[in-house]
Amino acid sequence: MSRATLDHMRTLPRNDPRQYDDLAGEWWRPDGAFAMLHWLAQARARLIPPAPRPGAVLVDIGCGAGLLAPHVAGKGYRHVGVDVTRSALEQAATHGVTPVLADAAALPLMDGCADVVAAGEILEHVPDLPATVAEACRVLRPGGLLVLDTLNATPLSRLIAVTIAERLHGVPRGLHDPALFVDPRVLRAQCARHGVALRVRGVRPTVPAVAGWLAGTSNRRGRIVPTWSTAVLYQGRGVKEAAVLYPGRGVKQVAE
Ligand SMILES: C[S@@+](CC[C@H](N)C(=O)[O-])C[C@H]1O[C@@H](n2cnc3c(N)ncnc32)[C@H](O)[C@@H]1O
Repeated sequence: MSRATLDHMRTLPRNDPRQYDDLAGEWWRPDGAFAMLHWLAQARARLIPPAPRPGAVLVDIGCGAGLLAPHVAGKGYRHVGVDVTRSALEQAATHGVTPVLADAAALPLMDGCADVVAAGEILEHVPDLPATVAEACRVLRPGGLLVLDTLNATPLSRLIAVTIAERLHGVPRGLHDPALFVDPRVLRAQCARHGVALRVRGVRPTVPAVAGWLAGTSNRRGRIVPTWSTAVLYQGRGVKEAAVLYPGRGVKQVAE
């Protein structure tokens, strides 16, 4: 992160999205403060198959500046990005993303409009996780795919992602509120309530990628790889079933 960027950062409460305005110049610097987001976007895109039909829609919740866009560009989706940060959406739009300024917990999108919903590094930022998961699943069509990655609510995750990371040169302070980190058991249960059987696996950046980034050498080939533990970072993937049972309301037929 450049000295100029640091100098212009306000002191804001933890997890305040206005921090992304102050960091707007960092999004598309592959070796900058958001380097890891570039690597995670590439890894997330590997979970997304080519579009199943012409006109298929990918809804990217908390899309930021659209870092997922180059990795899905050849897959045939209309890429719709939702975010609360206008400055990020403006950049996303220049990378082929259709921008929607909205909260993840109240998507202004129709039921079942999405063939794929991506939620990359957003769930650990939302104050209302149940509403956000419900919305992600609502806009997903039956048979559609939910892909996500987020930070686990463990002491180790807090130690690495906040206590240690925020002391490192080039890492912005205050972007995360560890109280919002996401227990995968809770997330799986909430997805299941809305008809998505989520499977999770741990992921981590490679040691050379992190070492290179810290040393300030090129990280354009930074990589995320699977790991045995979900204790810090994890990915989730699940397909929405054809009908969802809502307690007290019977079966909502969601098949086309
Ligand atoms: C860590 S960034 C991840 C951006 C992008 N998904 C990526 O991986 O590059 C988190 C993003 O979530 C957005 N965000 C935070 N809270 C949000 C909310 N309640 N609704 C929608 N977007 C939100 C922020 O503005 C920011 O762009």
